Amino acid sequence: MDTKHKRLFIGLGICLLLFAMIISMILNQPYQYHGFIVPPVQHDNHVFLRTEEGPMNLTKYHNRYVLLYFGYTYCPDVCPTSLAKLKIALSELSEADRSKVQVIFVSVDPDRDTLEKINEYAKVFGTDFIGATGTRTEIDLVTESLGVKYKINPPDENGNYSVDHSAYTYVIDPNGYLVMVWSHEILAEEIAEDLTHLIETGIPVDQQLLAGPTPTSIICSLTLIPEFVNNGQGLYEHNCAQCHGVDLGGIPGWRTPLADGSHLAPPLGISSVIWQKTETELIEVIKEGKNVEKPIHMPAFESTLSDEEIYSILQYIYSKWSINQQNYFAGSLTPTP
Ligand code: HEC
Repeated sequence: MDTKHKRLFIGLGICLLLFAMIISMILNQPYQYHGFIVPPVQHDNHVFLRTEEGPMNLTKYHNRYVLLYFGYTYCPDVCPTSLAKLKIALSELSEADRSKVQVIFVSVDPDRDTLEKINEYAKVFGTDFIGATGTRTEIDLVTESLGVKYKINPPDENGNYSVDHSAYTYVIDPNGYLVMVWSHEILAEEIAEDLTHLIETGIPVDQQLLAGPTPTSIICSLTLIPEFVNNGQGLYEHNCAQCHGVDLGGIPGWRTPLADGSHLAPPLGISSVIWQKTETELIEVIKEGKNVEKPIHMPAFESTLSDEEIYSILQYIYSKWSINQQNYFAGSLTPTP
């Protein structure tokens, strides 16, 4: 091969390699849901409503994704568009996936919407869509627990009235937890994409836990002792910060493995995932190191730090986590079981 061809060949090789790297980066990206992920603490056990076929408890649909939409049949445009969107989205799913989804339209206007009327209305959009409602108290129990807002407006001279209501679709997972909310603006294709991923993989634990503050009375179930945290900060800065960063942010690019397979120091603070480990595992890594045979590795601190010093450093690290991360680590916040 002459030099010109050789160069061309190498150039082509580099292009291919870059292309492969970009593709693998795209493939490694976790799926970003179009809906808002909700921390899974809102259980639907008490969702009790009425349908034309009789009383309905949502627990009946555990093992499917339930899509709840609140509205009323006199609704001029918002409800029909939302329900039509759900219909299109579901038609884009495979048959197997389709059978794992149940749409329930809940009327917040039981004075005008009889069970028969709601059922008929829901079936216009999907033969297996369910129409439901309840007494005012039953409805309020459901809307309050899910954070749904609605307001019945005063009637005009003909007695007609409109109802303002949240135009979100509420996604309840097969275990009965509210896990996601779709806005009115979402597209049918985006709903279909989210559903496919929900059914296939669910929501990764870190995306769920970082979705919002813990809305329970547990403020923080991890005990942080100020003296240890304080002491730990000094020890951290002296022993760990040069690799894991003063702000515990790790070294940029830590995700990408180097040619020899070793990794740069990962973050230990809020953006890390070490809160998914146990304290025993963390102590072990710090004492014994990790991948110590690799050029870039986590050194062993067994001979340089005492147990109390390691404990102090850990306390400092915990203090940098979000409340959700701390609660998860302490075992008091479990994502959908
Ligand atoms: C010389 C650089 C260096 C120093 C100093 C260092 N680390 Fe690391 N640490 C690393 C590297 C590199 C890794 C990733 C190893 C791997 O995954 O192959 C790591 C990994 C870790 C992990 C495991 C993360 C995981 O997800 O498995 C913990 C925990 C950790 N370090 C804590 C500490 C603490 C605490 C200190 C201070 C006592 C410290 N490190 C000091 C480089 C360092």
